[in-house]
Amino acid sequence: MLPRRQDYGMKMTGGVRGGSVINFRTTVSSGRRGSSAVLPSVLTFLVIVASGGLLLMIEKGMLNSMETPPPRGSGKRLDFIRQAGRHGPDAVDVETQILQEIRNRTIRTMCSQKNMPHSIWSLSPLQRKTVLQHILVNDQYHFLYCYVPKVACSNWKRVLKVLSGALESVDVNIKMNHQNDLLFLSSFKPEEIRYRLKHYFKFMFVREPMERLLSAYRNKFGEIQSYQKKYGVEIIKRYRKSRAKDASITGDDVTFGEFVRYLLDEDVERMNEHWMPMYNLCQPCAVNYNFIGSYEHLESDSAYVLQHVGAPPHIQFPERQTWYKPVTTETLHYYLCSLPQKLLKELLPKYILDFSLFTYPLPNTTTQHCRH
Ligand SMILES: *[C@@H]1O[C@H](CO)[C@@H](O)[C@H](O)[C@H]1NC(C)=O
Ligand SMILES: *[C@@H]1O[C@H](CO)[C@@H](O)[C@H](O)[C@H]1NC(C)=O
Repeated sequence: MLPRRQDYGMKMTGGVRGGSVINFRTTVSSGRRGSSAVLPSVLTFLVIVASGGLLLMIEKGMLNSMETPPPRGSGKRLDFIRQAGRHGPDAVDVETQILQEIRNRTIRTMCSQKNMPHSIWSLSPLQRKTVLQHILVNDQYHFLYCYVPKVACSNWKRVLKVLSGALESVDVNIKMNHQNDLLFLSSFKPEEIRYRLKHYFKFMFVREPMERLLSAYRNKFGEIQSYQKKYGVEIIKRYRKSRAKDASITGDDVTFGEFVRYLLDEDVERMNEHWMPMYNLCQPCAVNYNFIGSYEHLESDSAYVLQHVGAPPHIQFPERQTWYKPVTTETLHYYLCSLPQKLLKELLPKYILDFSLFTYPLPNTTTQHCRH
C-alpha cells in the first residue's frame, strides 16, 4: 500500500523529470485575456503538472479516472471565471482560483484510488498519531488547522492563540511557544475527533517542497544549536567517515548534500516534522480538507480562511517579519544544482506525493539548466 511503504521510491527517467517543468505564470496570464482562452491552458497545465507524478500515476492506474472538465459554457466549474470577468481582475484572482481548482481535482482524483487511505481510521497507528498531533482545534469558530512547519505555521499559531484569547494580538513580540495554549486534535476522544472532522472547516497550507526543505535546512542547521547537536552531530558522524569517532564535532557545518543523504536514509513516517513530507504530516486523502492554501499566496489565502471561519475583522494574519529571509529561486537553484545528480534522483521521489498532490512542478535540474 503506497502511503505505508517506508519509502515510496519511484524510478524516474530524465525524460519525465525534464518534461514536467513549466512556467505556470506565462500559461495563466495568457489566459487572462478572456475566459475562453483560460480553459485550454488549464487543461494543458493539469496534464503537465500531472506528468510530475506521471510514472507514479501510471503505475497506480490513476490516469484512467482523471476526469476532464465539463464542456465549455455549461459547467458550474466555470462560474469563477465568469465572475472574474464580471467584476474585473481585482475581484477574484483568476490565477489563484485556477490553481485551487487544479489542486482540488488532483487531490480528489489521486485520493479516490483504492490504495489511498479514505479516513484517518484506516491509517496505521503511527500515521494517525502524526496527523492528529498536527491538527489544531478551534471549537469557537469550528475549524481544524493542520500545521506544516516552515509554511507560516508560527503565524497561524499566533492567530489561533489570539482567537482563543490566549494572546492579546498577533503582533505581540514574544517567541512562539509551539505547545502552550494550543488545542491538538490528538487530545480528544475518538468520537469527539470524529465529530470535529465531520463538521468543522478543515484547512492546511502547503509550500513548494524543495523550498520548504531548504528553508528547514538553513534555519535548523544554520541557526538552531539544539538541532545541530541532535541531528548535525549524527549526520556528520554518519557521512564524514574520517570524523566518525571525533568527539569535537559540533554539528554546525552540515552541508546540504549531507543533509540530503541523511533524508534519503530516513523513513518518511519517522522523520522530524520540519522535513517530513507534508503528505505524511496532514494526510490529505484521509482528512477531507475544505481548503488548501499555499505559501505562494499566503496573504490572500489566509485572509480567505479568516473570513470564511468568521473571525472578527480586526484579527488579521500577521505581516512577514522583518527578519524574514525568503528562499529565492536563485538560492534554490544553487543548492539543488550543487547536489550530485544521483542524490537528486532519489530526493525528488521521496517527496513525490507533495509534488503531485499539491501540484508543484518538479524543479528543472537538467545539467543544461544547472549550468546557468
Ligand atoms: C474542492 O471542491 C469542492 C467542491 O467545490 C469543495 O467542497 C472542497 O472544499 C474543495 N476542497 C479543497 C481542498 O479545495
Ligand atoms: C530546463 O532548462 C534548460 C536550460 O535552461 C532548458 O533548455 C530546458 O528546456 C528546461 N526544461 C524544461 C522542461 O523546461
